[in-house]
Parts: sequence; structure tokens; C-alpha cells
Amino acid sequence: MGLEACLFDLDGVLVDTAKYHYLAWKQLANSLGFDFSEEENEQLKGISRVESLRKILAWGGVDFPQERQDELAALKNGWYVEMISEMTANEVLPGSIKLLEELKSNHIKIGLGSASKNAKLILDNTGLIPYFDALVDGNIVNKSKPDPAVFLKGAELLNVDPKSCVVFEDASAGVEAALRAEMKAIGIGAEKDLGKAHLVVSDLTHIDLKTIQNLF
Ligand code: BG6
Ligand code: MG
Repeated sequence: MGLEACLFDLDGVLVDTAKYHYLAWKQLANSLGFDFSEEENEQLKGISRVESLRKILAWGGVDFPQERQDELAALKNGWYVEMISEMTANEVLPGSIKLLEELKSNHIKIGLGSASKNAKLILDNTGLIPYFDALVDGNIVNKSKPDPAVFLKGAELLNVDPKSCVVFEDASAGVEAALRAEMKAIGIGAEKDLGKAHLVVSDLTHIDLKTIQNLF
């Protein structure tokens, strides 16, 4: 079966928002009197807001009742939304537009598969909306990666077989989700974090339609 659709994670793949998530979580941890490392931060990529908070509190050795946890998640999100509200098309990562254009002109379907509840705001601010034939985000699917639900929903909305899809992911949980969905996975980042993917590159400038088709 050949390539029919590409499903893109958003944060850290098409836009440089992984750094804002990190900054906002770090600010929250610091306000609670502890810190966490960049390696620990790697584990937060791709997973939902509530799961991220749960992990961070465990790293800090603290626990709070659910109500306080909801407040903390809202606090972090407030800081994060402030950061992404300032975003423009300049923060679309290198290679993204060229690849999206090439896929579009070759009639390959394009979907979003993000855990974020803020995806729409980011896509609006950066002008990426028109490229997508389907959007799946954290408001539509609440099962967190590595559960394959977000990508399977994308394939369903695009009306394609999951086996004909390629996923672009910067998170190891996202690569795992793609593999569980029986899709091809292209890791964006470092081999040491994303080794399970079919191909790992540092950014989208290394990818064109031919590279993707060669995975089949
Ligand atoms: C993912 C990020 O895209 O979205 C995670 O990689 C983040 O780090 C998740 O926790 C949820 O994002 P949001 O915007 O709903 O808090
Ligand atoms: Mg990501």
C-alpha cells in the first residue's frame, strides 16, 4: 500500500512551541520550590496537560488534592497561552511550509494529530490552518499518546487506511502511538530519543515527498 496521507504532530514538529511548554512547566515547578531536568522534560512531550502535571509533581515529591491540581494546570496554561498568543508565522519551523506545499500539490491528504487543547489558536496565529484537510486535537480525543487514538481518528476523518499514513513526531510517546496505529513514523529530533521511528531527522528540511514514499 502506498502513501495517502501525512499526519503531523504540532508542538515541536511544525512550530517551536515545545520550548514554551517547557518554560511554563518550569515556572510552575519553580513556584512550588523545585526544578526538573531537560531529560525529564523529554518525557512530557506528546502527553496531555494533566498527565504532564502528574509527572512533574511526582518528580518534585509533592502531591495535591485534585482541586489544587486543576488550579496548577490552569496556572501553567495561562502562562503558556500568554506565550503562544504572541506567535506569528515566523515561528513555523524550517522546512514545514515547503513540505506542506509539496504534499498539497501532489494530492496527499494532510491531517493534524496533536494532544494540545491549544492547537487551534497556534494554527490560527501561524497561518497554518489552510493546509489541513482534518484536525484532531486534545479537545477531540482525550486518550493521550502513546495511545494511537489521535492518529486513528485522523485516518478516519481523512477516509484513508492507517497503513497508508505517515506520522511526523518529536515525542517518543507520539512515535509509539504511530507504530501502534500501524502507521509509518518519522521522528523529528534526536535518534537517542526517537530510535523506534522508521526514520529520524533533525527537522523537516530533510524531508520531501520522495523520502516519505521510500518508506513504503
Ligand atoms: C502536546 C505537547 O503537543 O500537547 C505536550 O507535546 C502538551 O507537551 C500537550 O502537554 C497538551 O498541550 P496543551 O496545550 O493542551 O496544554
Ligand atoms: Mg510534539
